[in-house]
Amino acid sequence: MKYYIMPFGCQMNRSDSERIQTVLNGMGYSESDDENHPDVVIKGIVACSVRQKAIDRVYGRIRNWNASKTEKPVLTFISGCMLPADREKFLKMFDLVFPIDQLPGLPDMIRQYGVPTPGSIQVSSSAASEVTFGAPEFGKPGREEARERIENFWKLKPSYSSRIEAFVPIQNGCDKFCTYCAVPYTRGREVSRPSEDILQEIRRLVREGCKSITLLGQNVNSYGLDKKGDELSFPELMREVGEIGRESGKEFWTYFTSPHPRDINVELLEVMAEYPVLAKWVHLPLQSGDDEVLKNMNRNHSMARYRSVVQDIRRILPNAALFTDIIVGFNGETVEQFEHTADAMREFEYDMAFIAKYSPRPGAKSAEWDDDVSHEEKDRRFHHLGKLLQEIAAPLNLHRLGSIEKVLVTGKDRKGFISGYTQGRIPVRLTGKTAISVEIGSFTDAEIISARPLSIEGRVL
Ligand code: SAH
Ligand code: SF4
Ligand code: F3S
Repeated sequence: MKYYIMPFGCQMNRSDSERIQTVLNGMGYSESDDENHPDVVIKGIVACSVRQKAIDRVYGRIRNWNASKTEKPVLTFISGCMLPADREKFLKMFDLVFPIDQLPGLPDMIRQYGVPTPGSIQVSSSAASEVTFGAPEFGKPGREEARERIENFWKLKPSYSSRIEAFVPIQNGCDKFCTYCAVPYTRGREVSRPSEDILQEIRRLVREGCKSITLLGQNVNSYGLDKKGDELSFPELMREVGEIGRESGKEFWTYFTSPHPRDINVELLEVMAEYPVLAKWVHLPLQSGDDEVLKNMNRNHSMARYRSVVQDIRRILPNAALFTDIIVGFNGETVEQFEHTADAMREFEYDMAFIAKYSPRPGAKSAEWDDDVSHEEKDRRFHHLGKLLQEIAAPLNLHRLGSIEKVLVTGKDRKGFISGYTQGRIPVRLTGKTAISVEIGSFTDAEIISARPLSIEGRVL
């Protein structure tokens, strides 16, 4: 019997899905990537609430799943990032609804609910009401209780979806309360994972030949601050990872996402410069290039602060790639304020930017304000920045023509070419006579022979 899991949203959810798999595999089920496979008896969603669109897709999907229950019994569940209002509705639509930190209890929930067997169609009497929800209610239960639950969750060994690239969560939740953001209400207060557990997982991954490790957290630079004095700081944690690299003598790249511009510091950048296994790549969310908008977003930093961080990055890590996140059409954003974001994109010369149209999130502060930038105008700003990104990134890639880049070979791209990425996470298509014999999961040198705005082509040497 099989299960099917559909993760939405960021890498955090994909990482959480790997632990859900471990639990279901442990019960004797196996994964299917086809939701219509005849053996699929459990279907689950890991939700993302960061934008309404992703939540709308959840509603669409569960209606389909419920409609097909008359033909074949399946058990449906949902976990991940849910806002309280949606969770109430999901309780009526899904068989099981549980916060991700209660994953260790999933086998009991499934047994209690009853696994569907051919011929027996379950009537929805949700076991979800038995589950207590912690994260979305502030301080209730307190951070200590939340910590214990999430630490038990982290103890589950993930069923890694790749042997080459792995996600390692280092922190859950967020204390920043940006006014547009759902995360503090879905994942709750910030809790740091014990550094010994993190380092042990990384040591094992490195030993097993993993080549790319991404440390995950909503605010990685606040790592350890919830246990100040008793836990490593983020730069100290990164130094330990660097030391693992040194001691193992193995080659791998370590990434982290995301740091907050307010808290990132020179100490971290200097540690990154010191160790070759710490990738020279920084994902530094901008969100807006206008001081007034940043203030309304409660980002708690000015453009002057952001600029000085970028200058530190350029000085200490001159070859680092710079990625960012941007929101267009936030409440009250004028055309002039939007232009400041465009100016910032030109100034900081991003290699990549993830651009989003503002979507009010019920429960977050800004949802109380007038969502006064029209759909058409958000669209216009979105496409404008998308085009601008291509204009900015194209010359950066043209610059690489003729140079030799180290590429981590990860698989085949959509057109069947062997592909991978540079340490700065620029996608590379590998060509040339020897490309086909390059081993997936290895590092290879390639001469850059053509460049597109957001990707490059390299001839394997
Ligand atoms: N912790 C990260 C962001 C996590 S959410 C940070 O501090 O930047 C991931 C991205 O989703 C954000 O960077 C933002 O660009 C986008 N996002 C979050 N809330 C949004 C909303 N209400 N509407 C549109 N995009 C949003
Ligand atoms: Fe959301 Fe802000 Fe926290 Fe990032 S820092 S997760 S945007 S509240
Ligand atoms: Fe979405 Fe949760 Fe990530 S809300 S962006 S899946 S932390």
